[in-house]
Amino acid sequence: MTALVTADDLAALEDAVAHAFATGDDRHLKVLGYGEISSVLAWDTARGPVAVKRLPPFPDAARFDAYAALVHDYLASLAARLIAPVRTELVSRPAPGGGTIAYLVQPILAAASLAPRVMAAGDEAGAVALFTRIADAVVGYVDDRHGLDGQLSNWAVDAEGGLRYLDVSTPMLRDAAGAERLDGDVFMASLPWALRPVVRRLLLRDILAKYYDPRGVLLDFLGNLYKERLDRHLPALLEVASARVTPGFDLREVRRYYRGDARSWALLQRLRRMDRAWQRGVRRRPYPFLLPGRIDR
Ligand SMILES: Nc1ncnc2c1ncn2[C@@H]1O[C@H](COP(=O)(O)OP(=O)(O)OP(=O)(O)O)[C@@H](O)[C@H]1O
Ligand SMILES: [Mg+2]
Repeated sequence: MTALVTADDLAALEDAVAHAFATGDDRHLKVLGYGEISSVLAWDTARGPVAVKRLPPFPDAARFDAYAALVHDYLASLAARLIAPVRTELVSRPAPGGGTIAYLVQPILAAASLAPRVMAAGDEAGAVALFTRIADAVVGYVDDRHGLDGQLSNWAVDAEGGLRYLDVSTPMLRDAAGAERLDGDVFMASLPWALRPVVRRLLLRDILAKYYDPRGVLLDFLGNLYKERLDRHLPALLEVASARVTPGFDLREVRRYYRGDARSWALLQRLRRMDRAWQRGVRRRPYPFLLPGRIDR
């Protein structure tokens, strides 16, 4: 299979992104989706448009190689446990000041194929059918060594009706001793120092832990239906989830969970915006991340 992007494509992409970081003007970049940590952009290449996600810079080749091996293992592990990941390639180039810049590249999925759109466009029976497949995939994959962020925005339905998992930038695999294989410090380094204790607390302790527990992943999925404005389906989907894990769920637990989760992420985004203002306005330095605008929670 030919690669999704060439070295020239990558050079042009990185120029455009570096320009946005340096000037604070990102109007020439087309954002496909803002996640809590990174953003996914559409990028035109000679072979057609692709979806690209810029990763935090890697301080050296060894750290990049370890990450590349981990992404490779994660894609294989998903497929081995019956979750079809979206075709994903990892491309890299040396960073001007040393280290490695890397992007994850995927084909652009049609907007109408993204799971939030699929669920929003359908009726309750459609929502139950889609969630049943996601919940079965979660329960079949997740255990204390295999983690997954199963929220609705991480799935798509392909042209043949197959379920696809798209969010593979944070591979959640633990080794035999139970240690996280992802180098938390590389991902932490992408954050301003003032945020690291918050994120270390939020991400590494609470947030990562729940992704290795099927019940935690399903609770997170259900809570996120508020953010997706699909909470009208909660009563029906609660039943689907409750049939798969013990104890089951009730609305109160889901609401309480979501309020706590939304508060944590909103705080993180506020801190990042403050840091951006500080870096640009006071330190006169480029701010090397694309932040979401206001997220309605
Ligand atoms: N290949 C793609 N084609 C079209 N849209 C995409 C594609 N990949 C991602 N998106 C959009 O961007 C959103 C964010 O992508 P993704 O889930 O990979 O990142 P994320 O949630 O920011 O991950 P993290 O928070 O772990 O960094 C998706 O929910 C989807 O709407
Ligand atoms: Mg995501």
